[in-house]
Amino acid sequence: MSSFWHETISFGSLKVPRVMAAPLDGITDSPLRQLIRRYSKTELLFTEMRHIACVANSRVPTLFAYENCEQPLAYQISANNTRWLAEAVEAIVKHNFVMLNLNMGCPAPQVIRSGSGSALMNNIPLYKEIVTELQKALNGRIPFTLKIRAGFKKSNAVEIAQIAQDLGVEGLVIHPRLQTGGFTAPLDYEIVAAVKKAVTMPVIFSGNINNYGRMVKVHERTGVDGFMIGRALWGCPWKMHEIMEEAAGRTFTIPIAEMVRIARIHLDLNIALYGPRGVNPFKKQLPQYIRGVDGASQLRSHLVRLQTAEEMAAALDNILISC
Ligand SMILES: Cc1cc2nc3c(=O)[nH]c(=O)nc-3n(C[C@H](O)[C@H](O)[C@H](O)COP(=O)(O)O)c2cc1C
Repeated sequence: MSSFWHETISFGSLKVPRVMAAPLDGITDSPLRQLIRRYSKTELLFTEMRHIACVANSRVPTLFAYENCEQPLAYQISANNTRWLAEAVEAIVKHNFVMLNLNMGCPAPQVIRSGSGSALMNNIPLYKEIVTELQKALNGRIPFTLKIRAGFKKSNAVEIAQIAQDLGVEGLVIHPRLQTGGFTAPLDYEIVAAVKKAVTMPVIFSGNINNYGRMVKVHERTGVDGFMIGRALWGCPWKMHEIMEEAAGRTFTIPIAEMVRIARIHLDLNIALYGPRGVNPFKKQLPQYIRGVDGASQLRSHLVRLQTAEEMAAALDNILISC
């Protein structure tokens, strides 16, 4: 056990714990973030990635939806041109996000086809132009960070990191797989260690962190300053707290009935934000919440077929009675 894990790190003027929650599109929306906040009071949270044109033109009704309890909250954008950068930055600053993060890691075909996400790692002139314009628009009002991969088709994270440092970027998150590796290829720890050596800004590791032991091993191997918890938070909003308790030499366990109770609150938060269709995104997280309940797999098949929020609420209430 070491106090190291409970120290803060600085992105420019922003001081936050060194462990934070990753952005997961379709997962770490406002309802999940509110639930993460019940357990993790001060850790940095991120919005899901949104394209600058969308942000600048407020095309999605839930684009800036968050509750005050979610702060400190960073906003993540993707970009493949500089057309909407200034407008997007103004909207983000106006909504009081504490950091702007540029996604350069998304491997999804529809994203890379447009030249954004991880494809930006393969277009150095455009990368430099976008970062320069973003810095100009931000004018130091909130810190600016990047989230990158090991590279696009081949590794170039060190070059990208050095350019970022020269352009005044204040932090770097690295998910050390190539675009071709998706979210499952072996993690490249060597490139993370090389990136950490190449820059002075904080370097945050993102990839397969689901317990304290793994975090310690990755830290020993790479020397990174911080960690992001991603898929481990999926239907498991207490996970980051569980890891931090382990780091403090304590054990956190959550009773099955409490998992189901949190699932029930999650459903209500989804309905409040998305209306009746909020039951559908909830179904993605449901299996994790009920995995400890007797007969979980049959229950799961039954619950994911339910069509309405009322049916789902009643089914969860029934499970709670028998827990
Ligand atoms: C379903 C899904 C959605 C994701 N959405 C985003 C996103 O919007 N922005 C981003 O930077 N990374 C996104 N990621 C990548 C994660 O933030 C993280 O880097 C990756 O999952 C590895 O960390 P993990 O193993 O802890 O999940 C996503 C990953 C998954 C599986």
